[in-house]
Amino acid sequence: MVKSTITFVCTECGGENLRWSGQCPHCQAWNTLQEFQVRKAAAGKSASQAKRAGPSKPVALSEIASEAAPRRTLAWDELNRVLGGGIVPGSLVLVGGEPGVGKSTLLMHAAAQVAQLGDAVLYVSGEESAQQIRMRAQRLGALEAGIFLLAENDLDVICDAISAEPPALVIIDSIQTVTDAGFEGSAGSVTQVRESAARLMRLAKEIGVPIFLVGHVTKDGSIAGPRVLEHIVDTVLYLEGDRRQELRILRAMKNRFGSAEEIGVFAMGEAGLEEVPDPSAALLGSAATSSPGTAIVAALEGTRPLLVEIQSLVNSTENSMVRRIANGIDVNRLHMILAVLEKRLTYKFGKSDIFVSVAGGIRVTEPAADLGLALSIVSNQNNRPLPDGLVVIGELGLTGEVRRVGQLERRLQEAARHGLTRALIPAGAKAGRHSGLEVIEVGTLAEAVSAAFSTPMRSGAFIAGTEVSVS
Ligand code: TYD
Ligand code: MG
Repeated sequence: MVKSTITFVCTECGGENLRWSGQCPHCQAWNTLQEFQVRKAAAGKSASQAKRAGPSKPVALSEIASEAAPRRTLAWDELNRVLGGGIVPGSLVLVGGEPGVGKSTLLMHAAAQVAQLGDAVLYVSGEESAQQIRMRAQRLGALEAGIFLLAENDLDVICDAISAEPPALVIIDSIQTVTDAGFEGSAGSVTQVRESAARLMRLAKEIGVPIFLVGHVTKDGSIAGPRVLEHIVDTVLYLEGDRRQELRILRAMKNRFGSAEEIGVFAMGEAGLEEVPDPSAALLGSAATSSPGTAIVAALEGTRPLLVEIQSLVNSTENSMVRRIANGIDVNRLHMILAVLEKRLTYKFGKSDIFVSVAGGIRVTEPAADLGLALSIVSNQNNRPLPDGLVVIGELGLTGEVRRVGQLERRLQEAARHGLTRALIPAGAKAGRHSGLEVIEVGTLAEAVSAAFSTPMRSGAFIAGTEVSVS
């Protein structure tokens, strides 16, 4: 007998609901609920699976054998790091990102690196023709004999191909083009995407083959996005970056086998992607220091410090509605910093549009960039550049105090290594010596402003004669 139950799954947050509504009760997104049918299909299959598993008995934790097969490390350390040290056998890894960001390119590089070690890779594509994929591989220098291509959408055929001759790595490009005939719905529906991923997960665990799934993120939610898969898979990686720019960040969002804080940095060029082992150099290389509104901050991404450039533009406007636009920075953080600037330093931004962005298409989520952002706004507002070679490190509290941040030494080391000469850091943070780097402790936002712009500021540069009260 075929039993089926229907639930509704949010394509935005993956939350489940028993009945449909216009707004997701979990994440409050509108029009994101899609019908999801759970059907106990093919009773024979599940019975055979139950038999294979046998009755479960509790086992002493200490007696469980540790991970038998070693991780497979790839040629790119940027990739290994995000994966938590290489590819874990039997893992299911989701690689999400917007169309065109470079997911297929990245995975073809990974396939070539596995094939170069003498192992077989199965690349399943439901999106592009075999010729298109060959052309891409050729451009990337990834035309390895060990890569096998299967242009297929039917999950039964795909699973059979994987089990018949288990390769060292399977890539499914993309999960939204795969359909399981045992379930209703077209490719890309929540039911199909979730059930296909769950079946691939079982297969991966059963035969110990790692499977990478490509998942497109689309803004309009017309197909089920990677979000509905996040809790099924072992590892979730997102490839981010502005398509018009070079840099791509591969960010771990979840990792059952490693830290979920790591990032890998790549650059897209004529011959595909290249890893960028020293992203600070790449980001600073194009920094517009010495122009008003630019500040360099040392943000920590996972285990590594990154020197990034924050830019601000404060522009007075006649419009009654002012704009606050933040690229690469949480807009709520911007609102908070503006409020602190207004309250503690008597700036007035009520008649100005404010745009802030992080150069290179990077996203900075760390509060340690607060002080840098605040100084870049002050710098643009006053039309005075911050001094050359300055790095700004510190979190801002609501009273305008500069708070300490974790891993200060690492950040300072990175700044010194890249030839920066002065660092503003939170007061009381015990900083070691770093050659060539003068360290200045600041306790409040006002102190930071006065230390950064050490020559007296002209009051004419302020809006409506408001003065900065620097104590
Ligand atoms: P692709 O990997 O197809 O993106 P996705 O699978 O995420 O949709 O890459 C798409 C973009 O990358 C495409 O717009 C062109 C660019 N690209 C390069 O700039 N250089 C290259 O060598 C390749 C293969 C792609
Ligand atoms: Mg693709």
